[in-house]
Amino acid sequence: MVEKKLCFIGAGNMTRSITSGLVKSGYTPSLIHATNPSVGKLNDLKRDLNILVSHDNLAAAKEADVVVLSVKPHFMQAVCEELGALDLADKLIITIAAGITANRYNDYFGQEIKLIRTMPNTPTQIGVGMTGLYAGNNISEKQKQFCEQLMLSGGKVVWVEKEEELNQVIALAGSSPAYFFLFMEAMIANATNSGMDELKARALVQQAALGAAEMVIQNPELSAAQLRENVTSKGGTTAQAIAAFESGNIRGLVSKAMDDCVARAQEMAEQY
Ligand SMILES: NC(=O)c1ccc[n+]([C@@H]2O[C@H](COP(=O)([O-])OP(=O)(O)OC[C@H]3O[C@@H](n4cnc5c(N)ncnc54)[C@H](OP(=O)(O)O)[C@@H]3O)[C@@H](O)[C@H]2O)c1
Repeated sequence: MVEKKLCFIGAGNMTRSITSGLVKSGYTPSLIHATNPSVGKLNDLKRDLNILVSHDNLAAAKEADVVVLSVKPHFMQAVCEELGALDLADKLIITIAAGITANRYNDYFGQEIKLIRTMPNTPTQIGVGMTGLYAGNNISEKQKQFCEQLMLSGGKVVWVEKEEELNQVIALAGSSPAYFFLFMEAMIANATNSGMDELKARALVQQAALGAAEMVIQNPELSAAQLRENVTSKGGTTAQAIAAFESGNIRGLVSKAMDDCVARAQEMAEQY
């Protein structure tokens, strides 16, 4: 990976996971700078990764080639307004905040910036995430490649051509770990209600979920429907369970949940 001077504004969970991945993969720590108002997270990053840390957003961003905006969406406007004092024409700005559109960033910064929006999910924090990427105007192939390498430190990436598609990314990957948690939660509850020890039920469910995901990954030529059919013998136990899901209209419910998720993402984009 070509190394550039990086500055992360906000030193919370996402910055920690991305910078840890970078340093682990050999990125020069002294080229990474993280800023944060409170000192605890900065001390931890300095101790664990030996990257540069400070409270000064403006000074850190001024020195950087690439600025990664890693604060919660409600802090974003204030952060961008502060950084708008700099000439950002030669810098790549990467944001990992949900819901704020590319145009809105131009308003916040008070100048046309070169922006890539990224939409990571929570498993990014443990290196098995999925991140959607959208390049705004005037982004070069090299800048796209750099951003992609950066986000690969947290798992896998997918580019979308249209900004609205990031809302689909949210429904498919951003929010979906919670759908799977809900499914597992319900399965564990059923087992414990029937008297099974919770830890044992959890061990069974988590390994089944991992195995199912691996089956999908390792058999790209088979659709999810085919994989399901392959383990569903006529008249068997799995068929009985699947019939119960189908009679409860699980497909309709999943579809509604995802439509509602996209609608909420669109609504949130209106707020900023
Ligand atoms: N966590 C995820 O899995 C995930 C997934 C997708 C998207 N995201 C997005 O990624 C962004 C970061 O999320 P996160 O989970 O890393 O949040 P986080 O742990 O709360 O980290 C955000 C950090 O920003 C700092 N901060 C607040 N105001 C600041 C300012 N003016 N200048 C510099 N730093 C400031 C906060 O400092 P103090 O706490 O010291 O005040 C905090 O350490 C958010 O926009 C979030 O929506 C996160």
